[in-house]
Amino acid sequence: ESGKLWGGRFVGAVDPIMEKFNSSIAYDRHLWEVDVQGSKAYSRGLEKAGLLTKAETDQILHGLDKVAEEWAQGTFKLNPNDEDIHTANERRLKELIGETAGKLHTGRSRNDQVVTDLRLWMRQNCSKLSALLWELIRTMVDRAEAERDVLFPGYTHLQRAQPIRWSHWILSHAVALTRDSERLLEVQKRVNVLPLGSGAIAGNPLGVDRELLRAELNFGAITLNSMDATSERDFVAEFLFWASLCMTHLSRMAEDLILYGTKEFSFVQLSDAYSTGSSLMPQKKNPDSLELIRSKAGRVFGRCSGLLMTLKGLPSTYNKDLQEDKEAVFEVSDTMSAVLQVATGVISTLQIRRDNMARALSPDMLATDLAYYLVRKGMPFRQAHEASGKAVFMAETKGVALNQLSLKDLQAISPLFSGDVSRVWDYGHSVEQYAALGGTARSSVDWQIGQVRALLRAQ
Ligand code: ARG
Repeated sequence: ESGKLWGGRFVGAVDPIMEKFNSSIAYDRHLWEVDVQGSKAYSRGLEKAGLLTKAETDQILHGLDKVAEEWAQGTFKLNPNDEDIHTANERRLKELIGETAGKLHTGRSRNDQVVTDLRLWMRQNCSKLSALLWELIRTMVDRAEAERDVLFPGYTHLQRAQPIRWSHWILSHAVALTRDSERLLEVQKRVNVLPLGSGAIAGNPLGVDRELLRAELNFGAITLNSMDATSERDFVAEFLFWASLCMTHLSRMAEDLILYGTKEFSFVQLSDAYSTGSSLMPQKKNPDSLELIRSKAGRVFGRCSGLLMTLKGLPSTYNKDLQEDKEAVFEVSDTMSAVLQVATGVISTLQIRRDNMARALSPDMLATDLAYYLVRKGMPFRQAHEASGKAVFMAETKGVALNQLSLKDLQAISPLFSGDVSRVWDYGHSVEQYAALGGTARSSVDWQIGQVRALLRAQ
């Protein structure tokens, strides 16, 4: 006996290099628990179909519990012949309970087994990631609420644009993450579909009740077509894309904070807990946490495009290429878990430098408000934009700040300017104009906080 699940038709031995090449146990051992869970459900399905007696079922269930116990206690011993987790668990079950173990795989294939395992594993893991994501969002909203009266420069093209609330910046990132949560929920819905009972390709010929399997494993639905069910990895691709998009958001936030943390900006200071030093330059405090968040995005995108490359060009149904899906899922899950926790830590411990933020606001950032001043006096916006632009040019030519132009200077540009224009030169007044929902006025920032908190409560 070759010790293989498929030894019967083989005479020659497998080349040792091929043996290693083919083996997935090094990583799919992570599936030990869900593999046992799936097998327990399947043995109940076999019992109901009359393929196992009650005694045999009990024997198998107890044996499987023993297998799980060994994994949990770290005493499970792998054999060189255990090519994957399914082989290993069945081999051990047979050692524990004898020939009855050989009935467990009746009508089942590793093709429906592995994808059932993976869906079970991902279902658990997506819930964990979802909780971590919401924890980050909560941390950001708390911060936004506590610091909503801090103003600082908003940038477009990395050029000073308009004064905004610091909280408006935080919320801009938090809101993107709420979409990621929503998307993850969609992914979870499509992960939560049961393929077990599909066999290798054609289905199950022995009357296994797939509805019972679904209920046993608490899946939302069963797959519709056995050929599709054993080979589609849409749910994996969707998960990897979810992670990729979430990472673009986290990477963007990290990049902003790296920039804001430079001496040149000095808006924020990262806590020591999330920084590291230089082995050469004693003064250095580097934002490694944020840089690593930014870099992990590349790794996640690689896994996403890598899987799509693997899927593209496969003929239909199961091909061994699909074995490679699991490393992508495990690696990306671990990465997302770490990134979300580090991001939460960074945000909750970050110090802000209110004085530097205030100092960085400059009157030229109010040029748009100067145009709106004229609009409120009845001037069409296009003309007002032109007039304010002329004022900016005049200030530049005279070498003074925009708010240093005299009323006479401004009136030379438009007679609509009068004494009340001085009100424009107030950053607090500026942000309060942006009161339409979604804007940076205090009322609108409060509204945003309320909206995100409502989503948090719904979790
Ligand atoms: N280790 C395999 C995988 O991860 C299990 C399925 C193998 N099926 C087969 N017919 N060789 O995909």
